[in-house]
Amino acid sequence: MAGVMETLPGFRDFYPTECAVRNTLFAAWREVAHRFHFVEFDSPILEPLELFTEKSGEEIIEQLFAFEDRGGRKVALRPETTPSLVRLIGTRAASLKKPIRWFNITENFRYERPQKGRLRSFYQFNVDIVGEASFYAEAELIALAIESFSIFGLGRQHLYIRLSDRQIWILWLQALGIGESGTQMGLLHVLDKWERRERQDLEKDVARYLSSTAHVQTFFIGAEQLRKSNTLQAIRECFDALNPNDTLKEAVNQRLLTWEKLLEELDALQCGSFVQMDLGIVRGLAYYTGFVFEVFEAGLDGRALAGGGRYDLLFEKLTGHALPAVGFAVGDVTLVDVLQKYRLLPNIAFSLDCFVVFEDGTRKQALQDVGSLRQNGLSVTYLLGECPVSKQFKKALEYNPNFILFYGSNELKNNQVQVKHVATHNVTFVEREKLVNFVSNCAAGSKREQALKVDPFISIFD
Ligand code: HAM
Repeated sequence: MAGVMETLPGFRDFYPTECAVRNTLFAAWREVAHRFHFVEFDSPILEPLELFTEKSGEEIIEQLFAFEDRGGRKVALRPETTPSLVRLIGTRAASLKKPIRWFNITENFRYERPQKGRLRSFYQFNVDIVGEASFYAEAELIALAIESFSIFGLGRQHLYIRLSDRQIWILWLQALGIGESGTQMGLLHVLDKWERRERQDLEKDVARYLSSTAHVQTFFIGAEQLRKSNTLQAIRECFDALNPNDTLKEAVNQRLLTWEKLLEELDALQCGSFVQMDLGIVRGLAYYTGFVFEVFEAGLDGRALAGGGRYDLLFEKLTGHALPAVGFAVGDVTLVDVLQKYRLLPNIAFSLDCFVVFEDGTRKQALQDVGSLRQNGLSVTYLLGECPVSKQFKKALEYNPNFILFYGSNELKNNQVQVKHVATHNVTFVEREKLVNFVSNCAAGSKREQALKVDPFISIFD
C-alpha cells in the first residue's frame, strides 16, 4: 500500500508553495518571450512514437515513456517539444510569416536515472526561430537565453554559456577522411559522451567506427586538441595539422568568418562576456547541424541549465518542407536549484484582501458584499461554519488579510461596514455602496507597495 502513497521515481508533487514557485517561473518565461516578441503555441503531451524515434537520437529513444494505446497505436509521452513544433509549422509552412518566433512551456518525460538536476518529469521553456538561416538568429536566441536567467537576478557571476559548432566537427571529420554521414553521426555521439566516460570505453566506442588502431589514435589526439580549442586561431591550427585540401580549407575559413561575426553580434547584444567558445559541447540530440550551446553554472561542472542549437534539416526530413531553424530549452529543475542556492527564489505570499466577520442575522448582507468584492477582482474569504464573532476575529488574523470587514447589526442599521486595515489597525466605517471602491483603492495601493518591496526580478539589461 505504501507505494500507492508515493509518486513514481523522478516525478514530483507540487504543494501550493512549490506550485506558486513554478507559476512564477512560467510568468517570468512568458515575460521574457514577450520582451523578445515571441508568441506561444502548444501541442499534445502524448504523440505518435515515430515522431521521436525518427529524429530525436539514440539517447532520447532509450529514455522514452512509450506504450501501445487501446487502439493499438504506438505512442509516447513527449520527451521534448521540438519534433511537435516541426509538425505544427511544417503543416502550415506556406502560410506562416517568416521568420517564425514561437515559444512554449511544456511538461516532458524522460526515463532517466533520477539524480540531482535530472528527473523523469520536468518542465521546459522552449524558444525557436524558424525560417532564418543566418547566425543572427543564434545571437538573438543566446541573448534571450541570458535574459531568461537574468530576469531572476542570475548574472555573469552565476552562469556562462559554452558555444560550440557541429559544422566544425563535421569539417574536421572530413579532414580525417571520414565522409560517410552515419559514421559522422556515430562519432558525434561518442564526442558528446567524452566528458562522462573513461578513456578505454571511449576508445572502444571510437573503434566501432574506425578501421585501424592508428586511426583511433589519430582521432583521439586530434579530438582532444579540438575539444580544448577556445580561440579561432586554435581551431585553425587543428585543421592545419591535418593538411586539408583547398576546398576544405576554404570551407573552414568561411565557417571561422561566421564565428567571428557571431561573436561580434553577441558583443553588440551585451552577451559576449557570458559566452565561451568550447568545442567540447556536441549535444546529445541527433538533429543539430550547426552552432550548439549549453548554459552552465559558473565554476561547476554540474548538469546543463539550458541547451539548444541549429537544426536545419529536421523540417525537410519530418515534413518535406525545407526550413532552417534554431532553438533552445531551459529546464525548471536545475533553474530552481540554482535560484535556491543563491537565495533568488521569489518570496511566495498567498495574499488575501479581505476576511469577513459577521454577527448573527447579518450573514445575508455580508455574503452579498462578498460576491460584489469578488466580482471586482478582490480575494475574500470567511469562516464556512457558524462561529461566535470572537472566534472569527481570531481566525481572521491567522489568514493575515489586508482588511477585516466586520458586519455588526448596529453598523448595518446605518448601512455601514466596519473596515479594519490590519497593518495599521486603522478602523473606518464605510457605507456598503462604497465598500468595493474603498477596498479596491486601498488594495491596489498596498499591492503596488508590496510589488516594489519584494519584486525578485532584476534584469541585467535594465
Ligand atoms: P535538451 O538539452 O535535451 O534539449 O534539454 C534542454 C534542457 O532541459 C536541459 O538543459 C535541462 O535544463 C532540461 N532537461 C532535460 N532533461 C531533463 C531531465 N531529465 N530532468 C530535468 N531537466 C531536464 C532539448 O530538449 C531540445 N529540444 C531543445 C531545443 C529546442 N533545441 C532546439 N529547440
